[in-house]
Amino acid sequence: MLLPSPWRADFPAIAALQRQDQTYLDNAATTQKPQALLDALTHYYASGAANVHRAQHLPGAHATQAFENTRHKVAQWLNATHCGQIVFTHGATSALNLLAYGLEHLFNPGDEIVISASEHHANLLPWQQLAQRKHLSLIVLPLDASGVIDLNAAARLITPRTRLLAVSQLSNVLGVWQPLPALLALAKAHNVLTVIDGAQGIVHGRQDIEALGCDFYVFSSHKLYGPDGVGVLFGRHAALANLKHWQFGGEMVQDADYQHATFRSAPLGFEAGTPPIASVIGLGATLNYLSSLDQSAVNAHEAALHALLVEGLQQRPGVRLLGSPQLALVSFVVDGVHNADLAHLLTEQGIAVRAGHHCAMPLLKSLGLAGAIRVSLALYNDSDDLARFFDALDRALELLQ
Ligand SMILES: Cc1ncc(COP(=O)(O)O)c(C=O)c1O
Repeated sequence: MLLPSPWRADFPAIAALQRQDQTYLDNAATTQKPQALLDALTHYYASGAANVHRAQHLPGAHATQAFENTRHKVAQWLNATHCGQIVFTHGATSALNLLAYGLEHLFNPGDEIVISASEHHANLLPWQQLAQRKHLSLIVLPLDASGVIDLNAAARLITPRTRLLAVSQLSNVLGVWQPLPALLALAKAHNVLTVIDGAQGIVHGRQDIEALGCDFYVFSSHKLYGPDGVGVLFGRHAALANLKHWQFGGEMVQDADYQHATFRSAPLGFEAGTPPIASVIGLGATLNYLSSLDQSAVNAHEAALHALLVEGLQQRPGVRLLGSPQLALVSFVVDGVHNADLAHLLTEQGIAVRAGHHCAMPLLKSLGLAGAIRVSLALYNDSDDLARFFDALDRALELLQ
């Protein structure tokens, strides 16, 4: 089946990679960037860079306006009610660390934090560290065979002792959507704070945070075709009001003398120091570009490619998929073949996929695996990319099996 991508030419790096004989299928790690983003970065740097929220001069006003426009676009992308709910961070990881420090004062020894068995280290280690600092218990929700969080277990494990629930929307290893509405309903019944790691989920279209009803939602721009160095923390007003300031410095201060200071509320109170200005402006341009696409056509293309990928892998003897991937990515192992050997042979043939534990070591260990190969797709991939991948896979397996 031929599945060309109508958006491929919008991403100049894809042609550049092809000239280097590289087929890029590591999009869950980071994505290539649209020309619209490159143009916005060039425009910002070529027309006059300036710091934001500080200067009266014209370049400062332009930069501040472009920066705040992105906040507005992110709020629209998430269907947040107010721009003040959008805090710029340096990525999903820094947003989660901000939460784990900023919410620390709400926990008492013996309280419980609930996560799932498939969390990325970014949504595990900050909570693990918090649990160690405050003598809390970290409770891990088990998955069913397909990789989805077991809701019966969740109903047992989310209890009046639970203070916070932190789960990812779409697993970066298993490619399954987690049942967020049901989990959030369980959490709400016990007045539990909720954190959603949207690093992979955000990539597949606009979100309706209002309808979802979580307290916090985080993501990184670079996985959403935007620049690296910037991420987003969305917080409900009441939840943000409970967040203690974590990093201190310029522009987050209301008033300061030598011995004391008071701090601004969100969002600026949580954006100490010079933010990643160009990246924030670039994220705005990326969201403009994404808004111009027909999202249902993008989703249909990605679903068709994913089906082709799953089907092709399932046809190959000895290949075992991890869980039942629904979208965007597939992780697999091959019986009798070490994932590092396979990755090496794929790399030699110009296939850029990931091998290893995918920053989810406990999950891989629980599956009895040291690692797996992950193929992850983006809107610019096409069936030719998959054909090249399968040719390379077959040649590698011929050598290894
Ligand atoms: C599910 C998930 N959460 C969090 C992260 C961390 O994102 P970043 O490294 O951009 O902070 C990743 C990155 O792979 C991820 O896949």
